[in-house]
Amino acid sequence: MPGFEVIGREEFEQVQEVFQDGGGILFRHSFDHLRNEVYKVRDFEDAFAQRMEVRHALAVTSGTAALRVALAGLEIGSGDEVITQSFTFVATVEAIIEARAIPVVVDVDDTLNMDSEALEEAITDRTKAVIVVHMLGVPARMDEIKRICRDRGILLIEDTAWGCGGRFSGKPLGTIGDVGTFSFDFAKTMTTGEGGMVVTNDTHVDDMARAWHDHGHENNPELPRWEDSRHGSGFNYRMTELQGAVGLAQLEKLDGVIAAQRKNKAKLMSALDGLSGLTWRTIPDGAEETADALIFFVEDNYSALRCRQLLLEEGIGTKILPEAITWHFAGTWDHMPELVSARSGDLASRFTRSAELLGRSVALPVNVLMDEGMPERAYRALIPELR
Ligand SMILES: Cc1ncc(COP(=O)(O)O)c(C=O)c1O
Repeated sequence: MPGFEVIGREEFEQVQEVFQDGGGILFRHSFDHLRNEVYKVRDFEDAFAQRMEVRHALAVTSGTAALRVALAGLEIGSGDEVITQSFTFVATVEAIIEARAIPVVVDVDDTLNMDSEALEEAITDRTKAVIVVHMLGVPARMDEIKRICRDRGILLIEDTAWGCGGRFSGKPLGTIGDVGTFSFDFAKTMTTGEGGMVVTNDTHVDDMARAWHDHGHENNPELPRWEDSRHGSGFNYRMTELQGAVGLAQLEKLDGVIAAQRKNKAKLMSALDGLSGLTWRTIPDGAEETADALIFFVEDNYSALRCRQLLLEEGIGTKILPEAITWHFAGTWDHMPELVSARSGDLASRFTRSAELLGRSVALPVNVLMDEGMPERAYRALIPELR
């Protein structure tokens, strides 16, 4: 699971530097004469771009903000259709609605990520972009999805909130499409408490996103900030220096976190392999997952709920599936008028394939610091249901 497990002295020292050497300047811009060259957000952006092998990285206040800023950077707005997948956090659709665009949601397949056939069927003349999501650490079928977007002239955004540190065909997740977004909330592989990042290789998109996330400020080096140049409207999604400081320390730990998760996931998988009543989530060819969770399918929803109960009795929790489905499956989002009206009020029966797969899925969190006996305990807990 996440970076919070390894928070320690390094994060503390980074934050301390902001106060000791940096004069306690918590704003990412200006105050140059008071901060002794301490610019944590700027350094975090540079280090993140280097780690992700991408030209530009823009730090923002959350993964939700990162999605909204990405849409602004790509100049997506009123009347544009944006296609995303039925299994994601509600934030992906919220960002589309906030951009005054039209959310179009499609089914997932047995990777529990976007079904590329469903994507092709949903494309219309008004489709401007696709937001593909690497849910729970497993890359989507990026070869197929990228090909469809390229052939149809559609922009591709990767919601990499759960995929930080994963790769597809050797490329870091988030850098395969036009723009990638990341979340550093407290449950993610890297955390800054709250926070996010927008990455792209397109300098114009980065310029647009950077200005939009800062009220339109272009941070023109020729001008003081209060006389800054601007070309368009914007909003405020600026990251603070404290988040930037924590992010620098967490980024240093990312590779170690992923390596530990992969090792622990393999142990968990081998312990559960003896159970005959489960099948594993499909991992696409070319995918290098972050191993944030281990997901398996059981016979039906009744069995998934029973697995959760048996695991809980052993002191082991599940992650999103099956218990938090209402925040992560669009078929349940009847609180969103923008989705309900587009589906003539009938959300529940719209995503039958996704509902069938998600309803019988169980996700086990994979910790960085996993208790050695946990795989065996999980196995024993599940025997009465899945033997
Ligand atoms: C797929 C996905 N996108 C976006 C977000 C939003 O990130 P944040 O919590 O940083 O706003 C999340 C958060 O869980 C997520 O899972």
